[in-house]
Amino acid sequence: MPSVEEVIRAERDKRMLQQRQAVADNMKGVKKRIAVMSGKGGVGKTMVTVNIAALLAEKHKVGLFDADIDCPNVGKFLGMTEKAKISADNRITPAEKHGMKIVSMAFLHESESQATIWRGPIISNAILQLMEKTNWGELDYLFADMPPGTSDAALTMMQLIGIDAAIIVSTPQSAAIADARRAISMCRHMGAPVLGIVENMSGFFGKRVEEIAKEEGIPFLGSIELRKDIAELSDLGLLPVRESAEARAVFEQIVSNFPEEYRVK
Ligand SMILES: Nc1ncnc2c1ncn2[C@@H]1O[C@H](COP(=O)(O)OP(=O)(O)OP(=O)(O)O)[C@@H](O)[C@H]1O
Ligand SMILES: [Mg+2]
Repeated sequence: MPSVEEVIRAERDKRMLQQRQAVADNMKGVKKRIAVMSGKGGVGKTMVTVNIAALLAEKHKVGLFDADIDCPNVGKFLGMTEKAKISADNRITPAEKHGMKIVSMAFLHESESQATIWRGPIISNAILQLMEKTNWGELDYLFADMPPGTSDAALTMMQLIGIDAAIIVSTPQSAAIADARRAISMCRHMGAPVLGIVENMSGFFGKRVEEIAKEEGIPFLGSIELRKDIAELSDLGLLPVRESAEARAVFEQIVSNFPEEYRVK
């Protein structure tokens, strides 16, 4: 007879498989799922994600998932007042802005300052529920703006949702680079390909990430300088790729450096 521990483990495995299947069924119209990660917080993941996504949305069908469940701020960068809609059968219709379909925990909060204080397994469950219940429809790209770090949210995205590739964001500072290497190492461990690495806030802090990309054997997508227009526009909920020709050129370069296998024709 199996032990109680074996029964519990088997039941957990069964449920995990069922959840994975439900998410896979719900997301079968999504061509490329790309998670934007960093080890360290505050390096510019959200800024990079919304601008890359908005640029691609000019020619492709793009979804944006705010996987930062505790401090979701994708909507803030996009100046959004729109909310996702939840139907009676508990299905979520994403909000739309700049031609993108967007889902964020913030759209389910009462106010901007409301905090989500949940333990890891509940965060993981929230990500799963949002992925399973959202009507994504047909998408060329679904970008996930990840919280910093290599624990629950990243693990859930890789293990249960499944990603096609990760984009790593790092500033040129030693601590950010050390943590970016942790994120790269996690991707390797989990079998998630790294699409490439973006250096953000370069110039002011020097330039080092291209060298790290070479050492790690991953594509270098480009550098974004610490720029006043990016800081100010983002604070106002406006998109640098739409409002600043110089910032747009930087992001166009980054997108043009996507490896062939991650481009949707
Ligand atoms: N290249 C840049 N030039 C100027 N300001 C920038 C640049 N990149 C990001 N910022 C600003 O720095 C702040 C942090 O950026 P962001 O929120 O995107 O970081 P993050 O990595 O997503 O943070 P978290 O780890 O908390 O999710 C934001 O106010 C953003 O507008
Ligand atoms: Mg962020």
